Amino acid sequence: MSSALGKDLLGLEPLSAEQIKLILDTAEPFKAISERAIKKVPTLRGSTIVNLFFENSTRTRISFEFAEKRLSADPVNVSAAGSSVSKGETLVDTARNLEAMRIDMVVIRHGSSGAAQFLAERIKSNVINAGDGMHEHPTQGLLDLLTLRDHFGDLAGKRVCICGDVLHSRVARSNIWGLRKVGAEVAVCGPRSLLPSAIEELGVTVFDHIEDAIEWADALNVLRLQIERMTGGYIPSLREYNRVFGVTRDRLARAPRDVLILHPGPMNRGVEIDSDVADGEHSVILDQVTNGIAVRMAVLYLLAGGNPALAESAKAAAR
Ligand code: CP
Repeated sequence: MSSALGKDLLGLEPLSAEQIKLILDTAEPFKAISERAIKKVPTLRGSTIVNLFFENSTRTRISFEFAEKRLSADPVNVSAAGSSVSKGETLVDTARNLEAMRIDMVVIRHGSSGAAQFLAERIKSNVINAGDGMHEHPTQGLLDLLTLRDHFGDLAGKRVCICGDVLHSRVARSNIWGLRKVGAEVAVCGPRSLLPSAIEELGVTVFDHIEDAIEWADALNVLRLQIERMTGGYIPSLREYNRVFGVTRDRLARAPRDVLILHPGPMNRGVEIDSDVADGEHSVILDQVTNGIAVRMAVLYLLAGGNPALAESAKAAAR
């Protein structure tokens, strides 16, 4: 059966506003399943899902595994280190061997931009992009949208500023596509060395000073400085970065309104965000993590051909 999302979820750029809304609406009833003593519904019983992670992950890998188990699918976790990838096997050969074992879906995280699409074009199973290089991280973008929607309701006209290392960030790209499609106003703020050239062409405003971004925004999505992807010379030092661009309590105290604080994690406390902001009253960072499971349940369910109305019945069946 063809799904409302097509065969794969590779990014938010190819999705329509209606498809994004469908995923968020489908996630709503799935939230309740994680609050139950028995956190399981039979929706994907019999489905086998491979979580193929070629890069480290805490939140995304565990969140997908919880989502799969809560829908009664059978997950199998494969990492580069423990597999024949470490002996030189190609991505496609690995995936084709997994398909020969009759799997249904692959969730892939890979260091190369475009890896998820490359795989999706070569295997029959559904492919979900769990982060590919500096390209997209669609389920992170969706869980950010769900968290913002929980707080603000309709996101049309809401102002969200993505702060920090936009250059290396797949989260930034998925947020920009997703937020713009649902009608939010989007800005970016960071040192010019960490902003992609011609970023304005994506329809975002650019702030060079974090104080101006805070004055403008309803919400800040603060990005991790991806030090491991920096080949040198992007910033003078971490201390200097915090001094000029850090999201601090003093800076937020001068804002004309309460500013909601998001961060996709993992955080560099004391660099892009101070601890008293990350743990403060306007932070929804852990709500993002909780919402990640519901969003991933919705994506798995919809790609499997699920009827959104049945998500409600799945919840009812679990009562
Ligand atoms: N937000 C995010 O992708 O975190 P992980 O790298 O821990 O999965």
